[in-house]
This record gives sequence, C-alpha cells and structure tokens, in this order.
Amino acid sequence: MIKKQKYINKIRKKIHHHNYLYHILDDPEISDDKYDELFKNLNLFEEKYPELITTDSPTKTIGAPIQSRLNTIYHKTPMLSLNNIFNDKEYFNFNKRLKNILKTQKEITFCCELKLDGLAVNLLYKNSKLVQATTRGNGFLGEDVTENVKTIRNIPIILIGDDIPTLIEIRGEVFIQKNKFEDLNKEAVKNNTKIFSNTRNAAAGSLRQINPKITAKRKLDFYCYGVGLIEGKILPDSHFDRLIRLKSWGIPINNYSKLITGPESVLNFCHKIEENRNQFNFDIDGVVIKINSICFQEKLGCSSKAPRWAVAFKYNSKEQSTLLKKIDFQVGRTGAITPVARLKPIQIDGVTISNATLHNADEIKRLNLHIGDTVIVRRSGNVIPQIVKIIINKRPLNSREIIFPDNCPICGSSIKRVKNESISRCIGSLTCKAQRKEILKHFVSRNALNVKGIGNKIIEQLVEMEIVKTPSDLYLLSIDTLLTLDGIKKKLAEYIINSLEKSKKTTLAKFIYSLGIPDVGETTSINLALHFNTLKDIMTANEVLLKAVYNIGDAVAKNIINFFAKKNNQIMINNLIYKSGIYWNQCKSSNKINSNNLFTNKIVVLTGSIESITRYQVKDKLIELNAKVSEKISKKTDILITGKNASINKLKLAKTFNIKIISEYELINFLKFKKP
Ligand code: IVH
Repeated sequence: MIKKQKYINKIRKKIHHHNYLYHILDDPEISDDKYDELFKNLNLFEEKYPELITTDSPTKTIGAPIQSRLNTIYHKTPMLSLNNIFNDKEYFNFNKRLKNILKTQKEITFCCELKLDGLAVNLLYKNSKLVQATTRGNGFLGEDVTENVKTIRNIPIILIGDDIPTLIEIRGEVFIQKNKFEDLNKEAVKNNTKIFSNTRNAAAGSLRQINPKITAKRKLDFYCYGVGLIEGKILPDSHFDRLIRLKSWGIPINNYSKLITGPESVLNFCHKIEENRNQFNFDIDGVVIKINSICFQEKLGCSSKAPRWAVAFKYNSKEQSTLLKKIDFQVGRTGAITPVARLKPIQIDGVTISNATLHNADEIKRLNLHIGDTVIVRRSGNVIPQIVKIIINKRPLNSREIIFPDNCPICGSSIKRVKNESISRCIGSLTCKAQRKEILKHFVSRNALNVKGIGNKIIEQLVEMEIVKTPSDLYLLSIDTLLTLDGIKKKLAEYIINSLEKSKKTTLAKFIYSLGIPDVGETTSINLALHFNTLKDIMTANEVLLKAVYNIGDAVAKNIINFFAKKNNQIMINNLIYKSGIYWNQCKSSNKINSNNLFTNKIVVLTGSIESITRYQVKDKLIELNAKVSEKISKKTDILITGKNASINKLKLAKTFNIKIISEYELINFLKFKKP
C-alpha cells in the first residue's frame, strides 16, 4: 500500500476509535482540542488528495455507527452536524464564501447562539403531543429515548398556542447544569458509583439509560435550536422568528441567541461570550453562527454532514492530557493532607497548568492513579485544575502506585483519618512546622489581626529557624531578631514591630477568626461575637448554645467545641491575651441600632467586591443594623448587595427568588445617611 493511503487509513482508524468512545461510550480519552486537531489533519489531507476520499470517512459521516442497548429509529429528516472554525481568519473566510455564493455585497445577518455542550436530540410532536424522542446517533438513525426525555422538566409533553403544525421535529441540546453535575458527582463519590468526567458525558450517560427513572434523577435540561420536518403549517421565514414562535408554544429557547449583522460584530459576540464562558451555569464549547434568512439557508443547502449556512466557532477545550510526574502531600492549617499532582506543564485556556489538586486519598483510588500516567486535566473557571481521568492504555510499564503516607511528610506525626470524613489529618498541630506556618499566615492576614509587613517568606523563615512557634511568639520579636532574616532591612523591621503593636487592639470577632478554627470564617466569627459577647462564653458554650447562633450547624458547633477543648489551644489563647496583650473593646452588639431600618432582621448576602470600604466593615455595619449576614444565597435571603464583578449566578438566583438587590452605591449612601 502506498504511503499516503497508509497514513490516511491510520488517521481515520484513530478518529473512528475516538468517535466510538465519545458518542457510544460517553467516555472519551482525548481532549476535544486533540480530537479537533486530528480531524483538521484529516480534512487537510483529503483536500490535498481528493482521490483518497471515501464515503465512510469521518469527514463525511456523523457521530459513530450505532451500537446501542436502546431501540433505534430513523429520523424523518437527517440530523446534521456542524463544520468548525477556530479563529477570526477562518470566520472571515466563511463569511466571504457565503457572500460569493449568495452573490451579495450586503452584510449577511446571522443568528448567533451558544453552542451548548450536551447531546443533540430530536423531539417529534404530532398534533401537539410529544410522541417520540431520539438521539442524533449517526445523523440518520438515532436511539429511542422517548420515555427518558419525558422526565426532563422543561420539555413540554404538549404544545400550547397558535399555528402549531400537525407534525414537527424540534431539534435541540440536552445538557446538565454545572451545579447539578457537581451534585451528581458528589452523590457518585458517596455511593461509589461512576463519576462523570464532564457535563457532556454526564448528560449523555444520563439520557441514554435503559431505565427512565435514572434519567429522572439526573435533572437534565433542554434548549431548542432548530427544527426538522414540519407539516400542516408554515413557520416564519427567519431562523430567529422561528425560535420565538417555538418559544410561544412552550419550547425552551436559550435567551442569549442574538441577531447580528457584520463580521466584526459577530466576532465581538463570539469573544465576549468566551470571556464570560465561566459565568454560565452550563458548559458551552463555542458559538453557532447561522444565517438568519431561511431563503438563504435553502439556497446554500447542506453537505452530507453539515449545513453550508452555519458554522461552529469553537473555543479552546477546558481539558488537556498530560503526564503525572509526582505527587506531593501538602499539609494545611488544620493538618488536612492534600495530595497535589505535579504535572508536565500544559496550556489550558491560555494559562500554564503544572499542578492539580486531588482532594484526598479516595480520589487517588477512584481515579486509579499511578505516577507516570497520562491524565486528563480540566480547568473550569477559576477553580484549581483537577484530574478528571487517566488514560489506562497509555500507562507505562514503569508506572508507580501512589501510597498515601501514614505519617506527616513534614513533622512525622501520625496521619489520622477522621471517622465519616474523607479528610486525613496530621495530628501534629502546632508541633508540625507546616501547620505552624499556615496558622501564622492566617493569624497575621488582613481580615484576622492584620499584621502588616509580615509576608509568607518571613513566616517561612521564622518557623524554619524555630524563632516563632505559636502566634504569641510573634509579639516577642525584636528589631534585632528580625534583622537576622533574609530580605529584612531596618525600616521593614521597625514597620513590623510597629504593626505588631497596633494589631494588639482588635475586636472579638477578628480574634476568633484569627484562631483558625476549622470552618469558622469571618461571618461565623462575627455571629459568634455578637451572640455571646465574651470570649469566655464562646469557649464554654455547649453544642446546643452554639447551634442557637445564626448559621451554625452540627459540624461547625463540633469544630468549635473540639478546638477549645484542646489544651494547646487554651494555652495559645491565654498567652495571646495575658502575655502578648491582645485586647478588644466590648463587642459591637452594644452598638446595635435598635430602631427599625431596611436591614432589621433581614438575611443579607454580599457578592462581588465592595470598593469603598472593606468587606469586613460592610459585614460589621450590617450586623450593627440587625441584619443576618450569610454566605450562601437561598430562597430565605432577603437582600443581595452587589459590588464590582458580582456573580451572575447570584444575581440570577436573586431574580428567581425575588430577592431585593441593592448596589454598593445604594448601600454606602444608606450607611452615610442612617440616623445614629
Ligand atoms: S445547530 C443543522 N445549534 O453541536 C444544524 N447545534 O457540533 C445542526 N449544538 O449536533 C446543529 N448547540 O448537538 C446547533 N445552538 C446550537 C447548538 C448545537 C449545541 C450541538 C449539536 C450538534 C453539535 C455539532
């Protein structure tokens, strides 16, 4: 066989294999980017050597040959795929090509839609009733998922409205929202069942179930993006107006679809959506750009695989494969041991990734992870990258099993796994240098005792040289001692001593926060201080009393009790107060405003950064006004305060729950003019 033929056979075989993993097993083993690269290579090769094109080439077929436990059904009209473009230049070429074919100088109007990352389905409505639902399959033959689709809450079983065709095929994407996906995987960890590596696989795996009861539990969603066969009525002659008509019958349409004219504006939309990609509660992998005029669509027609009137502007994948070089076990402030994967650096979304978190020992077992494995890493939003799966057939012979340590890698103390918890902790506490460093870093941080001038590097040295063992040792530091450290000159040493002195005057809430009690953050510390008023009362409170504090539940109450029960911690607190001289004035509750105001007894949540005053001050002020400050938004929330870069999800929830929204500006004005 000649070389060219051999090459093309090899690349096609590879793509067929990956199509099977992606479309049939819902379990891909390469990233979308790698797949797109393979596909592009094949396309280029076929363009160069058209004599090698075959009708069964992946460039001419859709999905993968059907192999299903479900019944299969032919679509009334084929369900096509889309051609992809990856940059502005490719879009300009696409636009130019269309204008040439349509023989028009005028700019074309496109309907730009989010490209949801789920799986395509066809819903067949006869006389307004949903009678059949199928997956796209190979474009002609799909799997029967009618009963499963009927469990998707936003898919209407009956269409209601005017001018409904006697028969209509509705096409759209079934997907899973990100928060539902996380819940699903949390449940899977608990029950030791299959973990899904991403939202697409979760949606596809959940829909293609034999038992619709399982699908029902997965809480899937649907958005329609087009139609197939229509009989008995005529639909509007533009794509966008068709979507609006479908919406009027109760079919869910994504609200971000937009009519845009002019290539610059289209590209602007694609880039804007990409910038905000992480804000949506569903995964998207691009924007679909469709000619709006149905007359133009018909003129352009389709190839065997995709329409010529539409294209997918694809974004970079959030997943990449790389090599796991080693695992380090990091010790946190509370002794929690976190395995951190050290990876051969890769680029995801323009960011270099060389570490990924593994959370705990169970995660290593669940992934069946070995040193030397090729792994798929996912970076989703601003969260720490995660390893989602390994590619078992790439495991080298010299791979090594990962052994979770029995002893702390820093201090050698035993590592104990807390009953009913997935976290393992070093029991060394303040005797462990790693924990000591983290405890001190937290103690001096801005929202704790706010000791300015002491950065991480200084803490590292103070602990390594055993100059400081506990927070109260900080107050024994002298200028001369500080001058023995690397990078400290006289001016900085004086500044540190001065700010240590200033930090002695604090508030009860900040002091509690500075202690670093597990799960006791700023808000809980303020709530504790206001509820009890004195440190002694907090230290001696039992579970019932602690749970009477707003937002404190079983787990946090237990953490507080355990913390104060430890002799070491009692000594540390005594030293801080009686030796170092830390003090605070009577708790702010005495300053509480008695009169009724906008915030009295209201549950308030903050989102985004408040620029005029610190977040801590805002919380303090709100509590003075008798508000209850909470971290999480829920149906019970009364007011959402929005600062710069407020979370879109929180804003959406606020609208859904009819929560009052107050801007930072309105809040500051209110605080300025409120009566004392
Ligand atoms: S239009 C004939 N619009 O992308 C037009 N597809 O890569 C065919 N998809 O199979 C599709 N969002 O599963 C279209 N707004 C959207 C879409 C969309 C997601 C999926 C769909 C399709 C795949 C092609």
